[in-house]
Amino acid sequence: MIVLGLQGSPRENGNTNFLLSEFLKEAEKLGAETRILKAAKLKISPCIGCGTCEKTGFCFFNDAMSKEFYPMLREADIIVAATPIFFYNTTAQLKIFIDRSQALWSRKYRLKLVDPGSKTRRGFFLSLGATKGKNLFEGISLTAKYFFDAVSSDFSGSLTYRRIENKGDMKKHPTVLDDVKKEAGRLMSPFTGRKKILFACTQNACRSQIAAAFARYIAGDKIEAVSGGSKPAEKVNPVMVKVMQEKGLDMEYLSPKSIDTAIEKVSPDISITMGCEQKCPNISGVKKYEWDIPDPAGESLHFMRNIRDMIEKSVLKLVNEL
Ligand SMILES: Cc1cc2nc3c(=O)[nH]c(=O)nc-3n(C[C@H](O)[C@H](O)[C@H](O)COP(=O)(O)O)c2cc1C
Repeated sequence: MIVLGLQGSPRENGNTNFLLSEFLKEAEKLGAETRILKAAKLKISPCIGCGTCEKTGFCFFNDAMSKEFYPMLREADIIVAATPIFFYNTTAQLKIFIDRSQALWSRKYRLKLVDPGSKTRRGFFLSLGATKGKNLFEGISLTAKYFFDAVSSDFSGSLTYRRIENKGDMKKHPTVLDDVKKEAGRLMSPFTGRKKILFACTQNACRSQIAAAFARYIAGDKIEAVSGGSKPAEKVNPVMVKVMQEKGLDMEYLSPKSIDTAIEKVSPDISITMGCEQKCPNISGVKKYEWDIPDPAGESLHFMRNIRDMIEKSVLKLVNEL
């Protein structure tokens, strides 16, 4: 279970940083792997509204947002956006990140592609401001709602605090730690107890990626799917991406991993190999199933479609058996 925290304040060790850190600590206690992006440190260009993503699905800028942060958003099960109120909204630094999610909005609404994590991913926001006005969080609530929709996550709640101004104010708040514990537990409850399944093949460029994507899409509430390869390729197979797009599923921003990397933070209950010539290693204590799926590397589009359909059927059968 991956929880991605977006820290919107430029103030080091300020109130937002405290609130998000406590939230992520709770998430870790509940078994999550946490990652954090500090908006003020990200070297990304603001959106220029050029419309490239609306036509192609890709941002005009090939910077860290395109190379690292879209993949991180896609991989996350939970996205927690945290920001102080600056003029009734998020900070400019976080807003740059949010605006760049327009490329993911375009893939969803213009290209009509479905992110395999979209049915299970949840979004949560944390915010605080110095004043006590009734409307203090109205602006950020709307921004958060549309951001979470763009990154295909269900907007699942928020924690907001008024009269938090100077460094240390958040820490002194009488209920903050209880609030965080309660909300983190509620947010993560659908993800705990899922069966952890490793899908493995040789290159992690086609078969195991397809299997993990179908498992996540069809049964993300029951299965935590990871995938890896015994000899990972440099990038996923573009023919695989194409045939999955034919099913409406968006495989962009995925990259092959080794089996070791795939299970570094997730101890699988089951490992499923695709029946490669080169046998995947046994993982001690893990039940292993072997599917018989031919290797589509270098084969035709038609062949890849058959592989996709075979894997989809196998995943459906697996889900029914679970
Ligand atoms: C540029 C700027 C704009 C701000 N705008 C607001 C505002 O509109 N309403 C409010 O209640 N507080 C506002 N504040 C106060 C911050 O939200 C508050 O100090 C907060 O605790 C800072 O959080 P941090 O320590 O995480 O940076 C503003 C602060 C700055 C620096």
